[in-house]
Amino acid sequence: MIRNVSTTPYNDQKPGTSGLRKKVPVFQQPNYAENFIQSVFDSLEGFAGKTLVVGGDGRFYNREVIQKVIAMAVANGFGRVVVGQGGILSTPAASNLIRKRKAFGGLILSASHNPGGPHEDFGIKYNAENGGPAPEKMTDAIYARSKIISAYKIADVGAVDLDRLGTSDVGGMKVEVVDPVADYAALMETLFDFDALRTLFKSGFRMRFDAMHAVTGPYAKEILERRLGAAGGTARNFVPLEDFGGHHPDPNLVHAKELYDEMMGPNAPDFGAASDGDGDRNLIIGRGIFITPSDSLAMLAANAHLAPGYKAGLKGIARSMPTSGAADRVAEKLGIGIYETPTGWKFFGNLLDAGMATICGEESAGTGSDHVREKDGLWAVLLWLNILAERGESAKEIVTKHWATYGQNYYSRHDYEEVETDKANALVDALRAKLASLPGTSVQGMKIASADDFAYNDPVDGSVSKNQGIRVLFEGGSRVVFRLSGTGTSGATLRVYIERYEADPSRHGHDTQAALADLILAADDIAGIRSHTGRDKPTVIT
Ligand code: G6P
Ligand code: ZN
Repeated sequence: MIRNVSTTPYNDQKPGTSGLRKKVPVFQQPNYAENFIQSVFDSLEGFAGKTLVVGGDGRFYNREVIQKVIAMAVANGFGRVVVGQGGILSTPAASNLIRKRKAFGGLILSASHNPGGPHEDFGIKYNAENGGPAPEKMTDAIYARSKIISAYKIADVGAVDLDRLGTSDVGGMKVEVVDPVADYAALMETLFDFDALRTLFKSGFRMRFDAMHAVTGPYAKEILERRLGAAGGTARNFVPLEDFGGHHPDPNLVHAKELYDEMMGPNAPDFGAASDGDGDRNLIIGRGIFITPSDSLAMLAANAHLAPGYKAGLKGIARSMPTSGAADRVAEKLGIGIYETPTGWKFFGNLLDAGMATICGEESAGTGSDHVREKDGLWAVLLWLNILAERGESAKEIVTKHWATYGQNYYSRHDYEEVETDKANALVDALRAKLASLPGTSVQGMKIASADDFAYNDPVDGSVSKNQGIRVLFEGGSRVVFRLSGTGTSGATLRVYIERYEADPSRHGHDTQAALADLILAADDIAGIRSHTGRDKPTVIT
């Protein structure tokens, strides 16, 4: 039986950088998830009889929302729902499934690297038929709809068994429970030289992969250990838990400190990596060397031709604006296009669809390619492994040689988390107000060359996205960027991105914070971080 349930709007369902993210108790309010899901469906056209892919990172509330999605998909007229077994699908695997199954779109349930549990975060994101996050015009429509929604449709179909593989009829719609790993692993086999990787591991190459009790555990076990023959125990924390074991499933130097310490220790394996809650981010650490996401993007792009999937070369590289300029130098050398987009993977979609870019990356630990329309943590790990296998050098050697060829972009991000929203907004407003007066002035002995509020003109669809972060460029190419995070669930997070380019190899490989010290001081002089926020240091440095 299909019911039309009347409801009243919530006024806070505006999708952020990556879908709607809220604390679980917010999502548990009466009709909250239903309102949002119906707002998504109401903003789409032509899905009758078509396929919807659904899955999540396994966090608390995942299964409940999947049941709601299925019951609402029946009532709204979808023909089929494809769902990962146990409700599990990594974000890149979901993107792949949408593409492979020619689905109408998909709902991905995740709050990425944010903690999970009854009082932590949850999220719902809609991905379109290209497998990528809904573009802004679609998320704007969803938000507009959520503000006036008065009813949603749901079918009384009872709970579907998400653990049994196979297809069943649910209220006249097909529900297909699929192995969440199989199609994804098959895709990886087409991109990378699995024989060379098996030989690498056979030769004694040692690796650690920290799945952080999040979604990549089953993927890493299957691909690294079973298919590639990496030693048992290569994948750590590989059982997905609803609360990620109480940790932040955020693969950075703070939350993956254990891995970092091991990689810097005397008995370090050859290669270390980690991924986040939903499997789209990556952390890469060679023995004795952390590789920043911005550097990793540049190095992957410079060497991608060594992997079978990219041997024809790259069409172009795209990076988000706050990501360092390291990739630009690679693009220049390769003679291919480089695109600078706002933060958020959705901005890469058009470039990938139009065949203008092959590889994309962000400073926030996301790297990916045109194989799907999301960033992909394990893909980045496998590409690194393929490069290591082909070059027969250590990660550290590859990094050092890369810097010698292209120069080093010293880079760090300072986050001030959970700042009161008013204070954060006041800081940004004050900064905007003085942008025009900054060029030509000096801070900490460095002359400001230009300052602006980044706006993006999408070269494919002509759309314009304004106010995407404030950039202050110094003479000589150093820069600081200020932006408020679009993914937080409480208060505001101020992100300060600091970058210095160094061409001279004798000045490479030094301590990053020391190399950036004057720029860090300059950032505070320019933005008045201390005075606005009352904080004397960042909460997280990456
Ligand atoms: C998510 C998005 C990324 C984005 C990141 C940081 O992971 O998928 O594309 O770079 O959030 O966003 P934020 O707005 O918090 O800096
Ligand atoms: Zn993520």
